[in-house]
Amino acid sequence: MTLHMLPLLAAAAPLAAASAGYIHLDVSKQAASNPSLARRQQDFQASLTQANGLEYLVNITVGTPPQNLAVTLDTGSSDLWIPSISSKPCREGQCDGGEFVPSQSSSYNIIDEGGFNITYAGPGDSDSGNWVEESVSVSGSKTINNTIIGVALQGADQHGVMGIGYDTNEAQPNPSPDGSYPSMLDHMVSQGLINRRAYSLYLNDLNETTGSVCFGCVDSTKYTGDLIALPLQQSARYPGEPANPTPSVFYVTLTGVSFIDSTGAETTLSSEGYAQSVVLDSGTSEVLLNNYILTGLANGLGAVYVGEENYVVPCSYSNTNASIRYTFGGEDGPSVVVPLSEVIYGQLVPPRDFAGHSSGGCNMGVSGPIEGQVILGDTFLRNAYVVFDLDNYQVAIAQARGGQASISSLQVISTGTELPGVSSTATAAGTQLNEEEASATAIGIPEATGNTVTAGTPTFQLGASATASNASPSNTSSGTGSDSGSPGSSSSSGLAAFITPGPQAAFLGAAGAVAGAFLM
Ligand SMILES: *[C@@H]1O[C@H](CO)[C@@H](O)[C@H](O)[C@H]1NC(C)=O
Ligand SMILES: *[C@@H]1O[C@H](CO)[C@@H](O)[C@H](O)[C@H]1NC(C)=O
Ligand SMILES: *[C@@H]1O[C@H](CO)[C@@H](O)[C@H](O)[C@H]1NC(C)=O
Ligand SMILES: *[C@@H]1O[C@H](CO)[C@@H](O)[C@H](O)[C@H]1NC(C)=O
Ligand SMILES: *[C@@H]1O[C@H](CO)[C@@H](O)[C@H](O)[C@H]1NC(C)=O
Ligand SMILES: *[C@@H]1O[C@H](CO)[C@@H](O)[C@H](O)[C@H]1NC(C)=O
Repeated sequence: MTLHMLPLLAAAAPLAAASAGYIHLDVSKQAASNPSLARRQQDFQASLTQANGLEYLVNITVGTPPQNLAVTLDTGSSDLWIPSISSKPCREGQCDGGEFVPSQSSSYNIIDEGGFNITYAGPGDSDSGNWVEESVSVSGSKTINNTIIGVALQGADQHGVMGIGYDTNEAQPNPSPDGSYPSMLDHMVSQGLINRRAYSLYLNDLNETTGSVCFGCVDSTKYTGDLIALPLQQSARYPGEPANPTPSVFYVTLTGVSFIDSTGAETTLSSEGYAQSVVLDSGTSEVLLNNYILTGLANGLGAVYVGEENYVVPCSYSNTNASIRYTFGGEDGPSVVVPLSEVIYGQLVPPRDFAGHSSGGCNMGVSGPIEGQVILGDTFLRNAYVVFDLDNYQVAIAQARGGQASISSLQVISTGTELPGVSSTATAAGTQLNEEEASATAIGIPEATGNTVTAGTPTFQLGASATASNASPSNTSSGTGSDSGSPGSSSSSGLAAFITPGPQAAFLGAAGAVAGAFLM
């Protein structure tokens, strides 16, 4: 979910990109609806407002003649699918990324009727229909014919998803006898649009509407400091299962999480020797951390649990100078600092139901693991510039430079192993949660009961601006998502798609489950 382009380049991009070895496109941010609010904690009766997560979308065209659709850009899954006009969400007018009309495309070719079914990690979050061959283009690039995509006839999601992960993580079953068909990334390479399966992602700041993704290039205007490479870590589908021999999900090693308070003092929240495999997933709206780290952060901020994996803090905390630092790959690895203003979002509890701060209660933007996975979603990725190099099983990370949507300096990623701007690799290995850790829950965080939420007492130094009564987080409803929250609609997505071995695909990742949060 996310994604876009620079004015300077925009005019020339569609044509230039095809021959230049890269495809650079805008990613737009929008609010996602939150289907799970209806299932709030039983003993908490206050009214929760829409706690929308955010999601990041790109424009594509499908069919002949081309039909325009916006789809979530998802590093956590690997299939492209779009909703048919006859699907339930579209019939109910909820298809906010457009609806595909098969009868108006001369290139539409069903290859497995009823065989498509992708399931993301959110409860009930699956989309199903036909496997189809179609013509697809991204940002005006050369049309890729005979691409295998899913066309949903029923499902939970209001718009499609373009998964840009490994083929080995594609939904099962699929039309390929060996379970893995050529993805959009494979086609971009085989059609000569890009040199290798690698792309860079820039979501941009929370208060900006447009980010970008570049398939086949790195944009040196989008980060500060050095890009440092991290080898992808092996991962198992579920805690306790053996790891796949080659990485199939973007797991990297997180070696430190700390909180920097408003005085600049830094408190380490992770344990000594922490080396956690974490998924980089643009399809998950929040960060999902180990429960003990979540506990330390939530208690430090005086957060209150309001159900459905939502932790609430005063919205005014988004005005503080505090931030969270994530360090990767060990001592020489990259570190990304994420200001609380980029983490706390979406007013969950209106001021009238929130005692202690007139700014109301906002989503803390961090919650606990889902399906045994620790995930760095959009409340991390907005402040990181990440290059995903599938061919070489590595990613490179640097601190993002916010507000740079209107400029660019693109360097093409060639064949081979070099990544522009990357000079070193940080190699510390990480492990996934074990079964015991995966099933642990955060403890000691106060839970809301009754009709109001009472703000907790932070132990971190947050400074005077934390209590400013006029404070409010960035308006996360801006953009195109003003229809969010329709009952029954969903959003979701994301996810790291892990596929279960069984018959219908399954799972996946992280996605939307948690309330507002993900999803998107
Ligand atoms: C997608 O297309 C719509 C309609 O043309 C346009 O308004 C929007 O800005 C585009 N979004 C991106 C991310 O390019
Ligand atoms: C798709 O798969 C999910 C998970 O296995 C299942 O619950 C759902 O019923 C399936 N949908 C269809 C249409 O078969
Ligand atoms: C895709 O199909 C269209 C229409 O048949 C054709 O004009 C175009 O050349 C094809 N593209 C490629 C790359 O083969
Ligand atoms: C976003 O916030 C930053 C820092 O507060 C500011 O410099 C920038 O102009 C803002 N961008 C927009 C689009 O409002
Ligand atoms: C945040 O930091 C800036 C720059 O260092 C400073 O001007 C401002 O007063 C600080 N705000 C608070 C609330 O500490
Ligand atoms: C947030 O932005 C939306 C869309 O621009 C606007 O309709 C709404 O009034 C804004 N809300 C606030 C609280 O500023």
